[in-house]
Amino acid sequence: MPKRVRTAVFPVAGLGTRFLPATKAMPKEMLTVVDRPLIQYAVDEAREAGIEHFVFITGRNKGVIEDHFDKQFELEHTLASRGKSEALDELQRELPQAGQASFTRQQEPLGLGHAVWCARELVGNQPFALLLPDMVFQAKPGVMKQMMDAYENTGGNIIGVEEVNPADTASYGIVARGEGPDKGFAITGMVEKPKPADAPSNLFISGRYILQPEIFTILSQQTRGTGGEIQLTDAMQVLIKQQSFTGVKYDGRVFDCGSKIGFLTANVVFALDRPDLADDFRREVKAAIGSF
Ligand code: UTP
Repeated sequence: MPKRVRTAVFPVAGLGTRFLPATKAMPKEMLTVVDRPLIQYAVDEAREAGIEHFVFITGRNKGVIEDHFDKQFELEHTLASRGKSEALDELQRELPQAGQASFTRQQEPLGLGHAVWCARELVGNQPFALLLPDMVFQAKPGVMKQMMDAYENTGGNIIGVEEVNPADTASYGIVARGEGPDKGFAITGMVEKPKPADAPSNLFISGRYILQPEIFTILSQQTRGTGGEIQLTDAMQVLIKQQSFTGVKYDGRVFDCGSKIGFLTANVVFALDRPDLADDFRREVKAAIGSF
């Protein structure tokens, strides 16, 4: 039996430059898809997968994320006194319990690999889940739960992957596929942003990982790679020579909410999936599209 994964890491220290000016004073991870912040989707997905410890790598201007996962006494009191018990129940249900959330700061945004490395003391010597909160999924069960099911059989490191249009590989990290079924195949290599002709497959790394703690040692020795940042993929390329990496082609679909098109599409798709909004929203969208 592989060692249980209890801890999830959420890197939320990036600058979110693609969403300026919205992200000048507000974290990108607090942008909402319908009425829930991006970070809430990732935390819910981790909780569904059995995670008990939520580690946030924050930075300047990110204090509101910490507040979001804290009790808001005045708000709760007001909701209770106005009889809004449904909203109150929802707020309370979503809150990590006391001691379940930890926060540390990445003082400079030196890249995703560096952000993950900042979690080393809080994670310790155990496997951990890594969820990039700007990647939001429509998936049942959640993508991390599907990956955890594979991990129970294989142990080691797990990467969630999805098919990309072969012409678009140069925007993504792409894995090389070895033996095994869709829900647990051997990953034999990975390439960051290959041209279509050089891509080893059309399976891209979509922001969900289960990693072994040896990644921290490798990250601590890492020099800056593409864009002057410490890249997670560079460290994984070293770790894959020492440990197994398994790919899980999950059931579901990712929306890259760090890009405007992904974010806007997610809002439309998620709203059309909400019984309380779907009919009215569909009518409004149809009318709006008809007027162009
Ligand atoms: P992105 O690659 O989307 O970068 O980060 P970004 O800075 O947030 O956004 P743009 O490209 O400037 O618009 C993916 C995830 O990794 C985190 C981000 O907060 C985001 O959740 N991240 C990135 C860090 O925590 N630290 C970093 O140094 C870089």
